Amino acid sequence: MSPQPKTAQFTFQGKVIDLPVLSGTEGPDVVDISSLYKETGLFTYDPGFMATASCASAITFIDGEKGRLLYRGYSIAALARNCDFLEVAYLLLYGELPISEQRQTFVKQINQHTLLHEQMSSFYEGFRRDAHPMAVMVGVVGALSAFYHDSLDIHDPQQRELASFRLIAKMPTFAAMAYKYSLGQPFLYPKNHLCYSGNLLRMMFGLPTEEYKINPVLVKAMDLILILHADHEQNASTSTVRLAGSSGANPFACIASGIAALWGPAHGGANEAVLNMLRQIGDKQHIPEFIKRAKDKDDPFRLMGFGHRVYKNYDPRAVVIRESCHEVLSELGIKNDPLLDLAMELERIALQDDYFIEKKLYPNVDFYSGIIFRAMGIPASMFTVLFALARSVGWVAQWQEMIADPTQKIGRPRQLYQGYAERAFVPVEQRTVK
Ligand code: CMC
Repeated sequence: MSPQPKTAQFTFQGKVIDLPVLSGTEGPDVVDISSLYKETGLFTYDPGFMATASCASAITFIDGEKGRLLYRGYSIAALARNCDFLEVAYLLLYGELPISEQRQTFVKQINQHTLLHEQMSSFYEGFRRDAHPMAVMVGVVGALSAFYHDSLDIHDPQQRELASFRLIAKMPTFAAMAYKYSLGQPFLYPKNHLCYSGNLLRMMFGLPTEEYKINPVLVKAMDLILILHADHEQNASTSTVRLAGSSGANPFACIASGIAALWGPAHGGANEAVLNMLRQIGDKQHIPEFIKRAKDKDDPFRLMGFGHRVYKNYDPRAVVIRESCHEVLSELGIKNDPLLDLAMELERIALQDDYFIEKKLYPNVDFYSGIIFRAMGIPASMFTVLFALARSVGWVAQWQEMIADPTQKIGRPRQLYQGYAERAFVPVEQRTVK
Protein backbone atom coordinates (compact mmCIF):
# COMPACT_ATOMS: atom_id res chain seq x y z
CA MET A 1 0.00 0.00 0.00
CA SER A 2 1.42 3.39 -0.96
CA PRO A 3 1.73 5.86 1.94
CA GLN A 4 -1.01 8.47 2.45
CA PRO A 5 -0.11 11.76 0.73
CA LYS A 6 1.03 14.28 3.34
CA THR A 7 -1.08 17.40 3.85
CA ALA A 8 -0.95 20.48 6.04
CA GLN A 9 -4.19 21.90 7.38
CA PHE A 10 -4.75 25.61 7.13
CA THR A 11 -7.57 27.28 9.02
CA PHE A 12 -8.82 30.77 8.30
CA GLN A 13 -12.03 32.30 9.59
CA GLY A 14 -13.51 28.90 10.29
CA LYS A 15 -12.67 27.46 6.89
CA VAL A 16 -10.27 24.52 6.94
CA ILE A 17 -8.34 23.56 3.83
CA ASP A 18 -5.85 20.77 3.22
CA LEU A 19 -2.69 21.82 1.45
CA PRO A 20 -0.52 19.13 -0.18
CA VAL A 21 2.93 18.66 1.39
CA LEU A 22 5.55 17.70 -1.20
CA SER A 23 8.77 15.85 -0.45
CA GLY A 24 12.01 16.23 -2.38
CA THR A 25 14.85 13.73 -2.45
CA GLU A 26 16.65 15.77 0.23
CA GLY A 27 15.83 18.87 2.22
CA PRO A 28 12.72 20.06 4.02
CA ASP A 29 9.25 19.20 2.71
CA VAL A 30 7.34 22.06 1.13
CA VAL A 31 3.69 23.08 1.46
CA ASP A 32 2.05 23.61 -1.92
CA ILE A 33 0.12 26.83 -1.40
CA SER A 34 -0.84 27.40 -5.04
CA SER A 35 -4.55 26.91 -4.20
CA LEU A 36 -4.46 29.16 -1.11
CA TYR A 37 -5.67 32.35 -2.80
CA LYS A 38 -8.48 30.58 -4.64
CA GLU A 39 -9.63 28.82 -1.47
CA THR A 40 -9.20 31.62 1.09
CA GLY A 41 -8.51 34.92 -0.72
CA LEU A 42 -5.16 35.13 1.08
CA PHE A 43 -1.69 35.64 -0.31
CA THR A 44 1.42 34.55 1.58
CA TYR A 45 4.02 37.12 2.65
CA ASP A 46 7.70 36.19 2.70
CA PRO A 47 10.05 39.09 1.93
CA GLY A 48 13.46 37.85 0.84
CA PHE A 49 12.02 34.34 0.26
CA MET A 50 13.03 33.20 3.74
CA ALA A 51 10.77 30.13 3.59
CA THR A 52 9.66 29.95 -0.01
CA ALA A 53 10.69 27.44 -2.66
CA SER A 54 10.26 29.32 -5.93
CA CYS A 55 10.57 26.25 -8.17
CA ALA A 56 11.31 22.54 -8.27
CA SER A 57 14.82 21.71 -9.46
CA ALA A 58 17.06 18.64 -9.84
CA ILE A 59 20.34 20.48 -10.30
CA THR A 60 21.88 21.60 -7.01
CA PHE A 61 21.16 20.80 -3.39
CA ILE A 62 22.36 22.71 -0.34
CA ASP A 63 22.03 21.52 3.24
CA GLY A 64 22.74 24.75 5.05
CA GLU A 65 22.73 23.32 8.56
CA LYS A 66 25.28 20.62 7.77
CA GLY A 67 27.27 22.67 5.23
CA ARG A 68 26.69 20.31 2.29
CA LEU A 69 26.57 21.26 -1.40
CA LEU A 70 25.77 18.76 -4.16
CA TYR A 71 25.74 19.26 -7.94
CA ARG A 72 23.46 16.59 -9.43
CA GLY A 73 24.06 14.48 -6.31
CA TYR A 74 27.87 14.74 -6.25
CA SER A 75 29.58 16.54 -3.38
CA ILE A 76 31.30 19.77 -4.34
CA ALA A 77 34.56 18.62 -2.74
CA ALA A 78 34.66 15.43 -4.86
CA LEU A 79 33.96 17.38 -8.04
CA ALA A 80 36.46 20.13 -7.22
CA ARG A 81 39.18 17.57 -6.53
CA ASN A 82 38.56 15.26 -9.48
CA CYS A 83 37.02 17.14 -12.39
CA ASP A 84 37.82 19.99 -14.69
CA PHE A 85 35.39 22.84 -15.23
CA LEU A 86 33.90 21.65 -18.51
CA GLU A 87 33.17 18.21 -17.04
CA VAL A 88 31.26 19.93 -14.26
CA ALA A 89 29.52 22.14 -16.81
CA TYR A 90 28.40 19.01 -18.66
CA LEU A 91 27.17 17.49 -15.41
CA LEU A 92 25.14 20.58 -14.54
CA LEU A 93 23.64 20.83 -18.01
CA TYR A 94 22.89 17.19 -18.74
CA GLY A 95 22.56 15.63 -15.27
CA GLU A 96 25.36 13.04 -15.54
CA LEU A 97 29.15 13.13 -15.63
CA PRO A 98 30.27 12.62 -19.24
CA ILE A 99 31.91 9.43 -20.45
CA SER A 100 35.11 10.04 -22.34
CA GLU A 101 33.53 10.45 -25.83
CA GLN A 102 30.79 12.72 -24.48
CA ARG A 103 33.43 14.85 -22.84
CA GLN A 104 35.43 15.15 -26.05
CA THR A 105 32.35 16.07 -28.08
CA PHE A 106 31.29 18.64 -25.50
CA VAL A 107 34.72 20.28 -25.43
CA LYS A 108 34.63 20.43 -29.24
CA GLN A 109 31.15 21.94 -29.21
CA ILE A 110 32.23 24.61 -26.73
CA ASN A 111 35.43 25.33 -28.66
CA GLN A 112 33.44 26.00 -31.82
CA HIS A 113 31.97 29.07 -30.16
CA THR A 114 34.86 30.73 -28.31
CA LEU A 115 35.24 33.49 -30.92
CA LEU A 116 33.00 36.55 -30.86
CA HIS A 117 31.34 38.04 -33.88
CA GLU A 118 34.13 40.39 -35.00
CA GLN A 119 31.88 43.43 -34.77
CA MET A 120 31.28 42.79 -31.08
CA SER A 121 34.74 44.00 -30.19
CA SER A 122 33.76 47.50 -31.27
CA PHE A 123 31.27 47.52 -28.40
CA TYR A 124 34.13 47.81 -25.97
CA GLU A 125 35.23 51.07 -27.58
CA GLY A 126 32.02 52.64 -26.33
CA PHE A 127 32.97 52.16 -22.68
CA ARG A 128 35.27 54.36 -20.65
CA ARG A 129 38.60 52.69 -19.93
CA ASP A 130 37.93 53.00 -16.21
CA ALA A 131 34.47 51.38 -16.42
CA HIS A 132 33.96 48.56 -13.93
CA PRO A 133 34.34 45.31 -15.93
CA MET A 134 30.99 44.10 -14.54
CA ALA A 135 29.32 47.10 -16.19
CA VAL A 136 30.98 46.07 -19.44
CA MET A 137 29.90 42.44 -18.98
CA VAL A 138 26.23 43.35 -18.47
CA GLY A 139 26.36 45.30 -21.72
CA VAL A 140 28.25 42.92 -23.97
CA VAL A 141 26.52 39.73 -22.84
CA GLY A 142 23.13 41.40 -23.34
CA ALA A 143 24.32 42.44 -26.80
CA LEU A 144 24.74 38.78 -27.82
CA SER A 145 21.03 38.74 -28.61
CA ALA A 146 21.68 41.37 -31.27
CA PHE A 147 24.23 39.12 -32.99
CA TYR A 148 23.08 35.52 -32.74
CA HIS A 149 19.54 35.47 -34.07
CA ASP A 150 19.71 31.74 -34.77
CA SER A 151 19.69 30.86 -31.07
CA LEU A 152 16.91 33.05 -29.73
CA ASP A 153 13.93 30.73 -30.18
CA ILE A 154 13.43 29.39 -26.66
CA HIS A 155 10.87 26.83 -27.85
CA ASP A 156 13.44 25.02 -30.00
CA PRO A 157 15.64 22.71 -27.85
CA GLN A 158 18.47 22.84 -30.41
CA GLN A 159 18.53 26.63 -30.37
CA ARG A 160 18.48 26.55 -26.58
CA GLU A 161 21.47 24.22 -26.59
CA LEU A 162 23.29 26.39 -29.11
CA ALA A 163 22.69 29.48 -26.96
CA SER A 164 24.01 27.58 -23.93
CA PHE A 165 27.20 26.55 -25.77
CA ARG A 166 27.69 30.10 -26.97
CA LEU A 167 27.32 31.57 -23.51
CA ILE A 168 29.69 29.09 -21.84
CA ALA A 169 32.23 29.40 -24.67
CA LYS A 170 32.23 33.17 -25.00
CA MET A 171 32.33 34.17 -21.34
CA PRO A 172 36.14 33.79 -21.04
CA THR A 173 36.59 35.79 -24.25
CA PHE A 174 34.28 38.53 -22.95
CA ALA A 175 35.89 38.58 -19.51
CA ALA A 176 39.44 38.75 -20.86
CA MET A 177 38.46 41.50 -23.29
CA ALA A 178 36.92 43.55 -20.47
CA TYR A 179 40.24 43.27 -18.63
CA LYS A 180 42.41 44.01 -21.66
CA TYR A 181 40.27 47.02 -22.49
CA SER A 182 40.77 48.44 -18.99
CA LEU A 183 44.54 48.16 -19.51
CA GLY A 184 44.53 49.55 -23.02
CA GLN A 185 46.13 46.35 -24.31
CA PRO A 186 45.13 44.54 -27.53
CA PHE A 187 42.54 41.79 -27.35
CA LEU A 188 43.80 38.25 -27.85
CA TYR A 189 41.81 35.71 -29.83
CA PRO A 190 41.06 32.40 -28.08
CA LYS A 191 43.24 29.37 -28.82
CA ASN A 192 41.16 26.25 -28.86
CA HIS A 193 43.94 23.77 -28.23
CA LEU A 194 44.12 25.17 -24.69
CA CYS A 195 41.82 24.06 -21.90
CA TYR A 196 39.02 26.37 -20.74
CA SER A 197 40.96 27.96 -17.87
CA GLY A 198 44.24 28.00 -19.80
CA ASN A 199 42.55 29.87 -22.61
CA LEU A 200 41.05 32.36 -20.17
CA LEU A 201 44.40 33.03 -18.48
CA ARG A 202 46.19 33.43 -21.79
CA MET A 203 43.59 35.87 -23.10
CA MET A 204 43.84 37.84 -19.85
CA PHE A 205 47.59 37.87 -19.34
CA GLY A 206 49.12 37.11 -22.72
CA LEU A 207 50.39 39.62 -25.25
CA PRO A 208 50.53 39.31 -29.03
CA THR A 209 54.25 40.08 -28.86
CA GLU A 210 55.22 37.06 -26.76
CA GLU A 211 54.38 33.41 -26.31
CA TYR A 212 52.29 33.00 -23.17
CA LYS A 213 53.50 30.14 -20.99
CA ILE A 214 50.63 28.36 -19.30
CA ASN A 215 51.26 27.77 -15.61
CA PRO A 216 49.55 24.48 -14.65
CA VAL A 217 49.24 25.64 -11.02
CA LEU A 218 47.23 28.66 -12.09
CA VAL A 219 45.11 26.58 -14.47
CA LYS A 220 44.31 24.10 -11.70
CA ALA A 221 43.49 26.88 -9.26
CA MET A 222 41.28 28.65 -11.80
CA ASP A 223 39.42 25.45 -12.65
CA LEU A 224 38.84 24.79 -8.97
CA ILE A 225 37.45 28.26 -8.36
CA LEU A 226 35.22 28.03 -11.43
CA ILE A 227 33.85 24.66 -10.28
CA LEU A 228 33.12 25.98 -6.79
CA HIS A 229 31.17 28.90 -8.24
CA ALA A 230 29.38 27.07 -11.05
CA ASP A 231 25.96 26.79 -9.42
CA HIS A 232 24.32 27.48 -6.10
CA GLU A 233 20.65 26.66 -6.22
CA GLN A 234 18.06 29.47 -6.25
CA ASN A 235 20.25 32.42 -5.17
CA ALA A 236 19.51 36.04 -6.13
CA SER A 237 21.14 35.99 -9.57
CA THR A 238 19.83 32.54 -10.53
CA SER A 239 16.34 33.53 -9.46
CA THR A 240 16.75 36.69 -11.54
CA VAL A 241 17.68 34.59 -14.57
CA ARG A 242 14.68 32.33 -14.00
CA LEU A 243 12.30 35.25 -13.51
CA ALA A 244 13.56 37.01 -16.65
CA GLY A 245 13.39 33.72 -18.54
CA SER A 246 9.86 32.98 -17.34
CA SER A 247 8.56 35.83 -19.50
CA GLY A 248 10.05 34.20 -22.59
CA ALA A 249 13.01 36.61 -22.79
CA ASN A 250 15.91 35.29 -24.86
CA PRO A 251 18.76 33.45 -23.08
CA PHE A 252 21.38 36.16 -23.61
CA ALA A 253 19.12 38.82 -22.09
CA CYS A 254 18.40 36.48 -19.15
CA ILE A 255 22.09 35.83 -18.43
CA ALA A 256 22.83 39.58 -18.66
CA SER A 257 20.17 40.12 -15.98
CA GLY A 258 21.88 37.46 -13.85
CA ILE A 259 25.21 39.26 -14.20
CA ALA A 260 23.57 42.49 -13.03
CA ALA A 261 22.08 40.78 -9.96
CA LEU A 262 25.37 39.07 -9.12
CA TRP A 263 27.24 42.36 -9.03
CA GLY A 264 25.89 43.46 -5.63
CA PRO A 265 28.24 43.26 -2.61
CA ALA A 266 25.82 41.01 -0.72
CA HIS A 267 26.14 38.45 -3.54
CA GLY A 268 28.97 38.03 -6.07
CA GLY A 269 30.52 41.40 -5.35
CA ALA A 270 31.53 40.12 -1.90
CA ASN A 271 34.88 38.68 -3.07
CA GLU A 272 36.04 42.12 -4.17
CA ALA A 273 34.60 43.62 -0.97
CA VAL A 274 36.54 41.09 1.18
CA LEU A 275 39.83 42.21 -0.26
CA ASN A 276 38.93 45.88 0.16
CA MET A 277 37.95 45.13 3.76
CA LEU A 278 41.22 43.31 4.50
CA ARG A 279 43.14 46.26 3.09
CA GLN A 280 41.05 48.61 5.20
CA ILE A 281 41.78 46.57 8.35
CA GLY A 282 45.43 46.67 7.35
CA ASP A 283 46.93 45.07 10.44
CA LYS A 284 46.04 42.29 12.86
CA GLN A 285 45.93 44.75 15.73
CA HIS A 286 42.95 46.53 14.13
CA ILE A 287 40.83 43.36 13.94
CA PRO A 288 39.01 43.83 17.30
CA GLU A 289 37.93 47.32 16.22
CA PHE A 290 36.40 45.97 12.98
CA ILE A 291 34.75 43.02 14.77
CA LYS A 292 33.20 45.57 17.12
CA ARG A 293 31.94 47.60 14.18
CA ALA A 294 30.47 44.48 12.51
CA LYS A 295 28.44 43.81 15.68
CA ASP A 296 27.21 47.38 16.05
CA LYS A 297 23.63 47.70 14.77
CA ASP A 298 24.13 51.42 14.13
CA ASP A 299 27.15 50.82 11.90
CA PRO A 300 26.46 49.56 8.36
CA PHE A 301 29.83 47.76 8.31
CA ARG A 302 29.57 43.98 7.95
CA LEU A 303 32.32 41.43 7.94
CA MET A 304 32.45 40.71 4.22
CA GLY A 305 32.85 37.04 3.34
CA PHE A 306 30.97 36.04 6.48
CA GLY A 307 27.43 34.78 6.77
CA HIS A 308 25.09 33.20 4.29
CA ARG A 309 21.34 32.99 3.83
CA VAL A 310 21.42 29.21 3.62
CA TYR A 311 24.64 28.05 5.29
CA LYS A 312 24.46 28.07 9.05
CA ASN A 313 27.71 26.16 9.12
CA TYR A 314 31.05 26.42 7.31
CA ASP A 315 30.37 27.00 3.60
CA PRO A 316 31.65 23.72 2.01
CA ARG A 317 33.11 25.77 -0.85
CA ALA A 318 35.12 27.79 1.68
CA VAL A 319 36.50 24.52 3.12
CA VAL A 320 37.83 23.46 -0.30
CA ILE A 321 39.13 26.89 -1.20
CA ARG A 322 40.80 27.39 2.18
CA GLU A 323 42.84 24.22 1.66
CA SER A 324 43.77 25.23 -1.88
CA CYS A 325 44.68 28.73 -0.80
CA HIS A 326 47.75 27.45 1.04
CA GLU A 327 48.58 24.99 -1.75
CA VAL A 328 48.34 27.62 -4.48
CA LEU A 329 50.29 30.23 -2.55
CA SER A 330 53.10 27.82 -1.78
CA GLU A 331 53.20 26.49 -5.37
CA LEU A 332 53.41 30.07 -6.58
CA GLY A 333 56.31 30.60 -4.21
CA ILE A 334 54.42 33.05 -1.98
CA LYS A 335 55.72 32.12 1.44
CA ASN A 336 54.11 34.79 3.55
CA ASP A 337 51.05 36.57 2.35
CA PRO A 338 50.18 39.27 4.87
CA LEU A 339 46.61 39.45 3.58
CA LEU A 340 46.11 35.69 4.00
CA ASP A 341 47.60 35.88 7.52
CA LEU A 342 45.24 38.72 8.30
CA ALA A 343 42.26 36.80 6.88
CA MET A 344 43.09 33.72 8.93
CA GLU A 345 43.44 35.73 12.11
CA LEU A 346 40.17 37.53 11.40
CA GLU A 347 38.47 34.18 10.82
CA ARG A 348 39.95 32.77 14.06
CA ILE A 349 38.77 35.72 16.14
CA ALA A 350 35.31 35.89 14.54
CA LEU A 351 34.69 32.17 14.98
CA GLN A 352 35.33 32.52 18.72
CA ASP A 353 33.11 35.55 19.11
CA ASP A 354 29.68 35.03 20.74
CA TYR A 355 27.94 37.27 18.19
CA PHE A 356 29.16 35.22 15.23
CA ILE A 357 28.59 31.92 17.07
CA GLU A 358 25.02 32.80 18.06
CA LYS A 359 24.10 34.03 14.57
CA LYS A 360 25.89 31.08 12.95
CA LEU A 361 28.02 33.35 10.81
CA TYR A 362 30.81 31.34 9.18
CA PRO A 363 33.22 32.24 6.37
CA ASN A 364 31.68 31.83 2.93
CA VAL A 365 33.39 31.07 -0.39
CA ASP A 366 34.18 34.72 -1.01
CA PHE A 367 36.26 35.01 2.11
CA TYR A 368 39.08 33.05 0.46
CA SER A 369 38.48 33.31 -3.30
CA GLY A 370 39.77 36.88 -3.44
CA ILE A 371 43.03 35.86 -1.79
CA ILE A 372 43.69 33.14 -4.37
CA PHE A 373 42.68 35.43 -7.22
CA ARG A 374 45.02 38.10 -5.93
CA ALA A 375 47.89 35.62 -5.67
CA MET A 376 47.20 34.66 -9.29
CA GLY A 377 47.69 38.28 -10.30
CA ILE A 378 44.01 38.95 -10.97
CA PRO A 379 42.91 42.47 -10.08
CA ALA A 380 40.06 42.88 -7.59
CA SER A 381 37.72 44.45 -10.14
CA MET A 382 37.82 41.17 -12.12
CA PHE A 383 36.86 38.91 -9.20
CA THR A 384 33.12 39.23 -9.71
CA VAL A 385 33.54 38.91 -13.47
CA LEU A 386 35.15 35.50 -12.95
CA PHE A 387 32.34 34.55 -10.58
CA ALA A 388 29.87 35.52 -13.33
CA LEU A 389 31.83 33.49 -15.86
CA ALA A 390 31.63 30.39 -13.66
CA ARG A 391 28.01 30.94 -12.66
CA SER A 392 26.92 31.30 -16.30
CA VAL A 393 26.98 27.51 -16.45
CA GLY A 394 24.59 27.26 -13.51
CA TRP A 395 22.38 30.02 -14.91
CA VAL A 396 22.18 28.29 -18.27
CA ALA A 397 21.41 24.90 -16.67
CA GLN A 398 18.70 26.41 -14.47
CA TRP A 399 17.23 28.37 -17.37
CA GLN A 400 17.17 25.21 -19.54
CA GLU A 401 15.49 23.26 -16.74
CA MET A 402 12.85 25.94 -16.35
CA ILE A 403 12.03 26.27 -20.06
CA ALA A 404 11.76 22.49 -20.46
CA ASP A 405 9.34 22.22 -17.50
CA PRO A 406 5.81 21.80 -18.92
CA THR A 407 4.29 23.39 -15.79
CA GLN A 408 6.39 26.55 -16.20
CA LYS A 409 4.52 29.85 -15.91
CA ILE A 410 5.57 33.47 -15.95
CA GLY A 411 6.91 34.40 -12.50
CA ARG A 412 4.59 36.98 -11.02
CA PRO A 413 4.86 37.53 -7.25
CA ARG A 414 2.06 39.36 -5.45
CA GLN A 415 2.43 41.99 -2.74
CA LEU A 416 1.14 43.37 0.51
CA TYR A 417 0.06 46.82 -0.66
CA GLN A 418 0.72 49.54 1.91
CA GLY A 419 0.20 52.69 -0.14
CA TYR A 420 -2.84 54.99 -0.21
CA ALA A 421 -6.27 53.51 -0.59
CA GLU A 422 -8.08 55.04 -3.58
CA ARG A 423 -8.47 58.81 -3.18
CA ALA A 424 -9.92 61.69 -5.14
CA PHE A 425 -7.78 63.40 -7.78
CA VAL A 426 -6.66 66.93 -6.81
CA PRO A 427 -6.30 69.59 -9.58
CA VAL A 428 -2.88 71.28 -9.62
CA GLU A 429 -4.08 74.65 -8.27
CA GLN A 430 -5.60 72.96 -5.20
CA ARG A 431 -2.55 70.79 -4.30
CA THR A 432 -0.58 71.43 -1.11
CA VAL A 433 2.87 70.11 -0.19
CA LYS A 434 2.49 66.97 1.95
N1 CMC B 1 28.74 40.69 9.56
C1 CMC B 1 28.05 41.05 10.66
N2 CMC B 1 26.79 40.67 10.93
C2 CMC B 1 26.18 39.89 10.03
C3 CMC B 1 26.81 39.47 8.85
C4 CMC B 1 28.13 39.90 8.63
N3 CMC B 1 28.80 39.53 7.52
N4 CMC B 1 25.97 38.71 8.13
C5 CMC B 1 24.83 38.65 8.82
N5 CMC B 1 24.95 39.38 9.97
C6 CMC B 1 23.93 39.51 11.04
C7 CMC B 1 22.87 40.51 10.59
O1 CMC B 1 23.17 41.81 11.05
C8 CMC B 1 21.62 39.94 11.24
O2 CMC B 1 21.64 40.31 12.60
P1 CMC B 1 20.24 40.53 13.39
O3 CMC B 1 19.56 39.21 13.37
O4 CMC B 1 20.66 40.98 14.75
O5 CMC B 1 19.49 41.59 12.60
C9 CMC B 1 21.84 38.42 11.20
O6 CMC B 1 23.28 38.24 11.13
C10 CMC B 1 21.21 37.75 9.99
O7 CMC B 1 21.64 38.45 8.84
P2 CMC B 1 20.71 38.81 7.61
O8 CMC B 1 21.27 39.95 6.85
O9 CMC B 1 19.29 38.91 8.08
O10 CMC B 1 20.87 37.46 6.78
P3 CMC B 1 20.62 37.27 5.26
O11 CMC B 1 20.40 35.83 5.07
O12 CMC B 1 19.55 38.21 4.78
O13 CMC B 1 21.99 37.74 4.57
C11 CMC B 1 24.15 37.74 3.65
C12 CMC B 1 22.98 36.88 4.13
C13 CMC B 1 25.15 36.85 2.89
C14 CMC B 1 23.66 38.81 2.66
C15 CMC B 1 24.83 38.40 4.87
O14 CMC B 1 25.32 37.42 5.74
C16 CMC B 1 25.95 39.36 4.47
O15 CMC B 1 25.68 40.52 4.15
N6 CMC B 1 27.24 38.87 4.44
C17 CMC B 1 28.34 39.67 3.96
C18 CMC B 1 28.35 39.67 2.45
C19 CMC B 1 28.86 38.36 1.87
O16 CMC B 1 29.86 37.82 2.32
N7 CMC B 1 28.16 37.87 0.84
C20 CMC B 1 28.57 36.66 0.11
C21 CMC B 1 27.59 35.57 0.24
S1 CMC B 1 28.26 34.01 -0.37
C22 CMC B 1 28.45 34.25 -2.07
C23 CMC B 1 27.16 34.36 -2.80
O17 CMC B 1 26.31 33.45 -2.66
O18 CMC B 1 26.98 35.31 -3.54
